[in-house]
Amino acid sequence: MNRREVVQKFLLGGTVLVLVPSILESCSKDTTKDPVTNPGNNPPAATKIDLDLSLAENAALKTTGNSMIVQNILIINTGTGIVALTSICTHQGCTVGYHSGAGDIECPCHGSIFSTTGSVINGPASSPLHLYPVSQTGNILTITL
Ligand code: FES
Repeated sequence: MNRREVVQKFLLGGTVLVLVPSILESCSKDTTKDPVTNPGNNPPAATKIDLDLSLAENAALKTTGNSMIVQNILIINTGTGIVALTSICTHQGCTVGYHSGAGDIECPCHGSIFSTTGSVINGPASSPLHLYPVSQTGNILTITL
C-alpha cells in the first residue's frame, strides 16, 4: 500500500465516521413533536362550552323538558334547572337521550336508564354518566368541561 492509498482509505474512513452520526441523528425521534413527551405541542383542549340561549338554535333549552346534544354532551332543562351530562352511554357507548315524560335519560341500545344526575337507575350500564358543572349568566349558559 503506497502513501496515496493510505491517504484515500483514511479520508474514506473519516467520511464514514462523519456520516454515521448524522444519519443516526436524522433517524432519531423528534421528541419536540411528540404529544406524549411534549404535550405543550397539542392544541389546547376546550375547557368550556358557552351557549347563547338568545340564539334560535339554543332557545329550546329555555323550555322545561327540552334537551339538546352539543359535542357529546346532553343538556337538559329539567324544570328545576339545566343539567349537562355526557351523552355517551357508559355501557357500550351508544348515544343516550332525555325522556321528558319519565324525567330520565334512556339508552336505546340495551335499555339502561339514568337519572338526570347521571346515576344508574337500570342496567346493564353499571357506571354513572359524567355530570358537568353548569352556570348561567344572563343568556349565556356555560358548561365547564
Ligand atoms: S350501550 Fe347503553 S345500555 Fe348498552
